[in-house]
Amino acid sequence: MVFACSTRLLSLALCLFLQRPSHAATLHPRDAVPSGFEARPYYPAPHGGWVPSWNDSYAKAQKLVSQMTLAEKTNITGGVGIYMGKIWPRRTLIFPCVGNTGSALRLGFPQLCLQDSALGVASTDGVTAFPAGITTGATWDKGLIYARGVALGKEFRGKGANVYLGPTVGPLGRKPLGGRNWEGFGSDPVLQGISGALTIKGVQEQGVIATIKHLIGNEQEMYRMYNPFQPGYSANIDDRTLHELYLWPFADAVKAGVGSVMTAYNAVNGSACSQNSYLLNGLLKDELGFQGFVMSDWLSQISGVSSALAGLDMSMPGDTMVPLFGNSYWKYELTRSVLNGSVPVDRLNDMVTRIVAAWYQLGQDKDYPRPNFSSNTKSRDGLLYPAALFSPTGQVNWFVNVQADHNLVARQVAHDAITLLKNDDTLLPLSTQSRITVFGTDAAVNPDGPNACGNRACNKGTLGMGWGSGVAEYPYFDDPISAIRRRIPDVTFHNTDTFPQNTPQSSPDDIAIVFISSDAGENSFTVEGNHGDRDKDQLSAWHNGDKLIQDAAAKFSNVIVVAHTVGPLLLEPWIALPSVKSVLFAHLPGQEAGESLTSILFGDTSPSGHLPYSITKSASDLPASVSTLRGFAFGQVQDTYTEGLYIDYRHLHRYNITPRYAFGHGLSYTTFALSNATIRAVTPLVPGPLPPRPEKGPVPSYSSTIPPAAEAFAPPGFNFIWRYLYSFLSASDASAAAAAATTNPTIHPAQKTTDLPPSGGAEGGHPALWDIAYEISVTVRNVGTAHAGKASVQAYVQFPAGTPDTPVLQLRDFAKTRELAPDGEETMRVRLTRRDLSIWDVQSQGWTVPEGEFVVWLGEGSDRLGVGCWVQRGVCEGGLRGPV
Ligand code: NOJ
Repeated sequence: MVFACSTRLLSLALCLFLQRPSHAATLHPRDAVPSGFEARPYYPAPHGGWVPSWNDSYAKAQKLVSQMTLAEKTNITGGVGIYMGKIWPRRTLIFPCVGNTGSALRLGFPQLCLQDSALGVASTDGVTAFPAGITTGATWDKGLIYARGVALGKEFRGKGANVYLGPTVGPLGRKPLGGRNWEGFGSDPVLQGISGALTIKGVQEQGVIATIKHLIGNEQEMYRMYNPFQPGYSANIDDRTLHELYLWPFADAVKAGVGSVMTAYNAVNGSACSQNSYLLNGLLKDELGFQGFVMSDWLSQISGVSSALAGLDMSMPGDTMVPLFGNSYWKYELTRSVLNGSVPVDRLNDMVTRIVAAWYQLGQDKDYPRPNFSSNTKSRDGLLYPAALFSPTGQVNWFVNVQADHNLVARQVAHDAITLLKNDDTLLPLSTQSRITVFGTDAAVNPDGPNACGNRACNKGTLGMGWGSGVAEYPYFDDPISAIRRRIPDVTFHNTDTFPQNTPQSSPDDIAIVFISSDAGENSFTVEGNHGDRDKDQLSAWHNGDKLIQDAAAKFSNVIVVAHTVGPLLLEPWIALPSVKSVLFAHLPGQEAGESLTSILFGDTSPSGHLPYSITKSASDLPASVSTLRGFAFGQVQDTYTEGLYIDYRHLHRYNITPRYAFGHGLSYTTFALSNATIRAVTPLVPGPLPPRPEKGPVPSYSSTIPPAAEAFAPPGFNFIWRYLYSFLSASDASAAAAAATTNPTIHPAQKTTDLPPSGGAEGGHPALWDIAYEISVTVRNVGTAHAGKASVQAYVQFPAGTPDTPVLQLRDFAKTRELAPDGEETMRVRLTRRDLSIWDVQSQGWTVPEGEFVVWLGEGSDRLGVGCWVQRGVCEGGLRGPV
């Protein structure tokens, strides 16, 4: 009944009433999307278990699931309700996480604890607040990205969380104003894909199930959610763009063996992501061969039967769209739907088997810790049923400290991400003898304390992370001003964003460091007029940061700007001022904002971060479809990806628009030279389509007979807690549902897909896509004399002339050197897979390698590509200028 509420604007009371699940719901037509963007039906949901690396886990899961009753099965596929934390004596049952599933304890299958966030264990103490995804992407360092993943995994395990709700690769960063871009790794599918996969590897090696999110198209925050009055916006994405940009990092995640996927709030091509059969059954489970389970984003499920048939496996947090009334589209309703034949038993078995198999796959059946914290309170004791009207109290927090030495990797990431955009007159690095004045509230921790604002929904003090669910509590905050004072104790600091009127003209050697920030977050909070997206402040620094810099530049001849920012900023109001000599983007450093910065400012080490997005001179340098946020509409807001493949640098290259700072740009205190590049063919690459896909392996099979109604009965005398979500039905309801099964026509989508996608065949898609076609090696030498430093080697592919509608350059791989002393050198390798050299052919629905000569360009940024390698000729040359 959701669509009825959204399109007819019924009264709130009526809508709340209608949100109660009804098994007799009428179907309403979808809102119209532009032609060419329809979401195709794709049924039935493919079974998991056919990929060899998951066979053992599926065999174990099958053994367990075949012993489960109907109510046990439906219990596992849904959460127990939002805020329904519940802790039983001696922590035999404890589920105080942001999402808590039901269990089948009789068989030893526990509740699963699903916990935010992508940058640290949320809502608890004793954890590390790691740098955000965007900061991690800015390191361009695979080793560090992986090390952060390992540390994150250890902390989630230490707190007893079964599922890490990260990494985020959607949003991809299509819209610079998008509220949650900072949770991901940068505005490029390859940067997102490699970083996401390495994070998953690090996390899952600790036995924690990682969740790649949000599938897909959640590129802005406003109007993202279905509510009783309006559907979430529709991201209208054409097939090729979907494959070559937005689905790309999800393919990497599936290839890395990710255990779960979270759907996005919005719709894609008119169909809500939580019940979009083309996305879930077609692309994710069939084409990409995903073997784990699909969960809804919180309160984004909008139907029971449709979402089950479309491939959703877990409802989170279990409630209907309007929570806290004890209603669910699944749980008892899923039990009913299976008994009355609306959802085939076979579909339920696959959902449960996927969840149980993921649990075995990550080894969680062996000594996995139970949660030892509560997301609901910081106190030792608290409500055992926080959402119930009357709840007993008891111990809910055990204060387990899981930080170990993870501050070191957190600091290293924060440090190696710092991106030097400009350094005129080699103003940086500073000496500790320098006379420095610091300006800006962003230089010092929030005076109310780093965690003063819940969900970090304020921008006060140094900005270490954005806001929303993607945050963690700071155990401490190393702020820049304290770190500067450790070097220069008597530094002058103006903790204000208004330039002090009485500041005298400084002497030529005096230096001003001006701190600015730009924040964004999830749409659940509005901060200083920004509704998640940067809709109010746009791409300008907050708190009049531009004016602060201009004023400082009028009084000082040496100005250094430090920006803590969720994404690109427009620097034009001050970047060309002669006194603004140095600019550092420190991104979102998490708890380690201080020392990571001062060791760059004072030259202990060289900066080595590179931009994970382009900085344009004007917002209108990018197409309107990405530079504007979609506003209110009656009915469904339509966000149509008319720019296709041309986001960020792809668009700028196409129209010869010079950005202020290019994607991948980043300076060092030293200089590097790339030489001796060679290219080697590894797996022979024949142009054209992929070879025939491999067959699927066998999958577990169960009886498809509808189980007896008695499997749904609550045990006699069962004590139901109001609003808690159970999977049991009363004996009379269960029997009525079972009786209806004989007379009710089963609501199965008529159109069934029988052909397997030609681009599937293994986890991540057709196995040949992952063949290494070419390997390039290049020697990087520190040719400076004074400073050590790390260099970034970025590899961009230029497709053969005549390849239809393809960006000039596309990032395909990257590598970072170790710290090289002057004269030091290292040989770096980058690789290109078959997928890297393919385009998505809409007609044949497959990846195909175009005929002709590819060039792979290497360099330290998308605008500094001095080495070219010709793939067919097998030669590389240096001393060139890249094609843009
Ligand atoms: C909504 C967010 O979109 C998602 O990323 C998060 O994991 C869940 N809420 C749980 O907090």
